[in-house]
Amino acid sequence: MLQPSLCFLGGLLGLLLMAPVLMAPTPPSMCTPLKTLNDSLSHRRRFMKHNFPINYSIRVHHQEIFKLSNISKMKLKVEGLDELVLQRLWFQVNQGVLKKIIRVLPERHPSRPYTAELERRFRDAEGVFVHSHPAEVFQQELPETVQDIWDQLTEEPDRVPESSWRLASPKSLVDNLCHTMYCLFWDCFSSTEASQDYCEVSHSKKGRKALSQQAEMEATA
Ligand SMILES: *[C@@H]1O[C@H](CO)[C@@H](O)[C@H](O)[C@H]1NC(C)=O
Ligand SMILES: *[C@@H]1O[C@H](CO)[C@@H](O)[C@H](O)[C@H]1NC(C)=O
Ligand SMILES: *[C@@H]1O[C@H](CO)[C@@H](O)[C@H](O)[C@H]1NC(C)=O
Repeated sequence: MLQPSLCFLGGLLGLLLMAPVLMAPTPPSMCTPLKTLNDSLSHRRRFMKHNFPINYSIRVHHQEIFKLSNISKMKLKVEGLDELVLQRLWFQVNQGVLKKIIRVLPERHPSRPYTAELERRFRDAEGVFVHSHPAEVFQQELPETVQDIWDQLTEEPDRVPESSWRLASPKSLVDNLCHTMYCLFWDCFSSTEASQDYCEVSHSKKGRKALSQQAEMEATA
């Protein structure tokens, strides 16, 4: 008997909370599937790099290159950008990315089972994401900038102009997935560190800088 009224209250609260600009905390139920995904991601070097030919890259929409710098740029550009909108975009972008990686892997490729599991775990997280917010959230209009990205991502591939495609290595794409996940779902990953650190494109921290330089080298190497 409690459940429906709680849901209703939850929905109402959700609507009330959406009015002001805010950093919506990630629903706690999201953290379990995201941590499971994170466990898989820790093996990405081996499966997304070592098992591929040197400089192997796949063709993606330029919007599928979704990095921390994109997030900070968007936060500056779009006034009052809701964290939840970015989380939705993260799912939309990376669902396409994982699909594209799987598509290039032959049935017996050594990275195939890993990538399939990664995608399964990603979908689990997406399922929990969708269920942990009231449905109205997903019917809300997106800010124009985000809607444009969304429309281009869902455009028929043969209607996408040649100039919109980019080449990217599977490893760099999955690195982006991982780093932006820490930023957008920081409350599942923060421990003692200040939460916002995860979103910093960062020059301040040596460790991170080394890491991102390494990632850059890998992306271009
Ligand atoms: C995420 O995975 C990394 C290893 O890639 C690990 O160091 C970190 O503790 C994990 N975070 C959580 C919250 O599980
Ligand atoms: C991220 O930035 C790059 C380069 O500025 C751009 O090509 C790409 O479309 C951006 N991605 C998104 C999702 O906006
Ligand atoms: C990989 O790319 C780098 C930089 O574009 C190039 O210098 C190198 O020769 C390439 N390696 C192979 C094996 O194609």
